[in-house]
Amino acid sequence: MTVVKSTIPDSARRVAGEALQNTLVDLLGLSLIGKQAHWNIVGPRFRSIHLQLDEVVAAARSFADTVAERSSALGLPPDGRPETIASAFTLPGPKDGWVRDTEVVEVLIEALESAVARLRERIDATEKADPVTQDLLIAVTAELEKQRWMFAAENVSHDD
Ligand SMILES: [Fe+2]
Repeated sequence: MTVVKSTIPDSARRVAGEALQNTLVDLLGLSLIGKQAHWNIVGPRFRSIHLQLDEVVAAARSFADTVAERSSALGLPPDGRPETIASAFTLPGPKDGWVRDTEVVEVLIEALESAVARLRERIDATEKADPVTQDLLIAVTAELEKQRWMFAAENVSHDD
């Protein structure tokens, strides 16, 4: 069913659509990982990381909305159903139960680095197909790299 017509050719729309859908999955998954860690973190650095995790969640949710709406604007219905996220999500996340503060920081760094690496591939892929989508993916990447930096800065021990 074609409800919303696209403003770009079909081949370009396919490339942009795939990049947007995969980014949507990563962002929604990241928001769930962030909340899981927010609720289950334990340790002396609880407070600062607990709060920092909500910044990741807020950014991931906000960009998930923008990314999904970009897909809709191109005439491609975004898929944010839980079963879709569960089957497509591949970023590393925390184990179940309580997680130590040091481990939370490491897991978040890994998850964000992995998300950024995947985004950078999509930035390359969308360069010709749809620079508008590429521009959005660049903005998402900048935010996730900022979040990664903050966790990396958290992770420096007294001995370093
Ligand atoms: Fe909370």
